[in-house]
Amino acid sequence: MAIPPITPLEFQQISVLLRDQCGLYLQEDQAYLVETRLRDFVQNLGLAGYGELYLRLRYEPERLLPMVINLMTTNETFWFRDESCWNAVEKAILPMLLQKLERGSGRVKIWIAGCSTGQEAYSLAMLIDEICLKRGKPELARAFDIQAMDISLAALDVARSGRYNDFDIRRGLSETRRGRYFERQADNRWLLQPNIRLRVRFDAINLARDFSWLGKFDLIFCRNVTIYFTPPVRERILTQMAAMLEPGGALLLGATESVWGGRGNFRTVEFEGCIFISKPG
Ligand SMILES: C[S@@+](CC[C@H](N)C(=O)[O-])C[C@H]1O[C@@H](n2cnc3c(N)ncnc32)[C@H](O)[C@@H]1O
Repeated sequence: MAIPPITPLEFQQISVLLRDQCGLYLQEDQAYLVETRLRDFVQNLGLAGYGELYLRLRYEPERLLPMVINLMTTNETFWFRDESCWNAVEKAILPMLLQKLERGSGRVKIWIAGCSTGQEAYSLAMLIDEICLKRGKPELARAFDIQAMDISLAALDVARSGRYNDFDIRRGLSETRRGRYFERQADNRWLLQPNIRLRVRFDAINLARDFSWLGKFDLIFCRNVTIYFTPPVRERILTQMAAMLEPGGALLLGATESVWGGRGNFRTVEFEGCIFISKPG
């Protein structure tokens, strides 16, 4: 049976629930997003419509909410996304972190918040590998702890597998890097080599909840994530992340999010077209 179109009340109920549960901000004219992304789901569950889905989400969220979040989050990502950002990571940020290691100060902690299917975290792991190799100190790469997190359990499954299809592997990844780090499998998928795959740890997180318990980081990536949140949630997340930076640490946002500008004693640094927030050392 066809699912009836979503009513304004059903849309309002579902969007308030998503906003409260995961910070997702749906504008008034985005009812079509709920319909296009959840229609098959509602149908496959045998529900009468979006109103019944809302009730099920309210009263048994444990099973259904993660599935709805998988469907409603936008997981668009690709390798080395935003050239100017990676240029700054390579030329300004990683050299600073390597200096810290060379001075003998323990480990470097990096957090990729909203990592989607893993391309951003693995791009970083590859870059670290290459830079350490170039410096003649490949062992230094093991001193970087990379934790990558997302709310979408489906995206995290792909990320952990390190396996990508022909389309995804091509998006932003050079043939040289593909040849160096990936192996083509019989089913035409590309498997990331364990030496890079095992350098990243993936976990679930909900950024709309308190995450200060994660501790301090030398580098935080939170790119193209807060654009989907309400302005107050976005502000709270960025303020909390800035407070989690170690002295000398950096917070990298997406190109359109960098207008945040930092607060208090944080500095906004512009490096060859990339803007990031830095905490003085
Ligand atoms: C567009 S992707 C960006 C991926 C990557 N950072 C990049 O720039 O290519 C946004 C990611 O944020 C995640 N996300 C959305 N809401 C979240 C939340 N409340 N907590 C954690 N992750 C969330 C989504 O699941 C999605 O994978």
